[in-house]
Formats: sequence, C-alpha cells, structure tokens
Amino acid sequence: MSEMESAVGAKPDELAALKLLGLEGGVEAGAKVSCSDLASRMDTSDQTASRRLQALEEDGLVEREMLSDGQWIEVTEDGEKVLRREYDDYRRIFESAETVELVGEVVSGMGEGKYYISLDGYVEQFVEKLGYEPFPGTLNLSLDDESTRRRAALENVEGTLIEEWENEERTFGAATCYEASIDGVEAHVIRPHRSHYPDETLEVIAPIKLRDELGIDYGDDVTVEVSLE
Ligand code: CDP
Repeated sequence: MSEMESAVGAKPDELAALKLLGLEGGVEAGAKVSCSDLASRMDTSDQTASRRLQALEEDGLVEREMLSDGQWIEVTEDGEKVLRREYDDYRRIFESAETVELVGEVVSGMGEGKYYISLDGYVEQFVEKLGYEPFPGTLNLSLDDESTRRRAALENVEGTLIEEWENEERTFGAATCYEASIDGVEAHVIRPHRSHYPDETLEVIAPIKLRDELGIDYGDDVTVEVSLE
C-alpha cells in the first residue's frame, strides 16, 4: 500500500527563490544565476539571496555548482515537486479543477489487498463511510512520472478517513479514501497512512472487480479520475 511521500516543504522566501530559478529554466535545463541578480529580483541583499540558495540546496530542492562568475543551478526532482504543488494550487484557484487524472499501468500487488480489504474492522467502515462493501482486493497501478507528481494534489483533499482499529492480536492502520472513477465506474483511491509501497503505487478499491468489469489486464494503462472536491 502506498504512503504518499511526506510533503517536501519550502519556506515562503525559499519558494520565491525557487520560483525565480524555475523561471530562469532551472527545472528543465539548469540555469546560470548570480546572487546579485537574484537579490535585486527578490528585493533583498546579496547576502540574503545567497543564504536562500544555500537553504534550497540544504533542503535538497536544488543542486549547485559554483562558477567563476556566478553559479549553475538545477532544480531537483523534489524542488520540482514543490513548484508543481504550487502550480496545482493555482490551477485549482483559477481553473477550479474538479478532478485530477492519474494514469498508470495495472500491476499485481503482493496479494495483500484481498486480506486487508476483507477484514471486518475495515469492511464495516467502508460500508458506513463509502456506502458499499468493496470487492475484496485492491487494483494496483504503477503511475507514470507525471501522475506520480500530480497525485500530490490529493494532499489538499480531505478525503474519507478509515480509522485504525484493533483485534486481540494487533492494530490495523488508518487509511484515507478519495472519491474516484475509472471509465465511469465508481471507485476510491485508498492511501494507507503507513505503507511500504513507493510513491508511484496507487491502490484502488471498488464495489466490483474492476479488471473483470472493465476488461483490463496486468500491463494495461488505466486512467483514474480522482475528485478534488
Ligand atoms: O494479488 P494482488 O495484490 O494484485 O491483488 P488483490 O488485492 O488480492 O486483488 C485480487 C485481484 O483483483 C487483482 O488481480 C486485482 O487487480 C483485482 N481487483 C480488481 O479488479 N478490482 C478491484 N476493485 C480490486 C481488485
């Protein structure tokens, strides 16, 4: 089950610097910048600009190489994630996106879905909170790179909390469910709060066996529309 990577953060000042670096081309190709140029564009001193670049580097959001007349800066994957999250926020403000489309390849899980999804402590909550008893299993997708980044938009969505519960032997962890659909069929993305799956793994539950209903096989690409409401 996939835990979304913990949010990579950036302070507002760092974010402003990161954005400028992005505008200079730092995401795609890397960019040559000088502290004095950045300083004047951020309306701060050279020293402050330099400190912000250092902070971005320490947070793993950029990589730097000192040149004789400035520095060469590349925004890292984590840096790009931070910018993309901002972008998603603005998209939501101006385009009022109601859903995010996540595309991935159907892969086989470890057979754990069936076990967990059919446990009473979860089933009772699914019925009460989602309004259906899920088919016992999870449809696992391996998201493409773009969708792996895009799923960060879900961090702003409250979703439906499936609470942790316990029996005599152990505790079963909490999860959050997000309303979704695949080819018009009702489903939910389920995100366990503790998970050993990587970021690109998306798990989906539904009232029916999606692979049979939609005629999809392992290796097929599937688009999940997840509600951002
Ligand atoms: O073995 P694996 O972990 O891939 O699967 P599972 O979670 O035990 O689920 C059993 C099978 O049902 C798998 O082939 C899933 O892809 C599929 N499935 C489905 O088609 N629709 C669902 N709503 C849930 C699972």
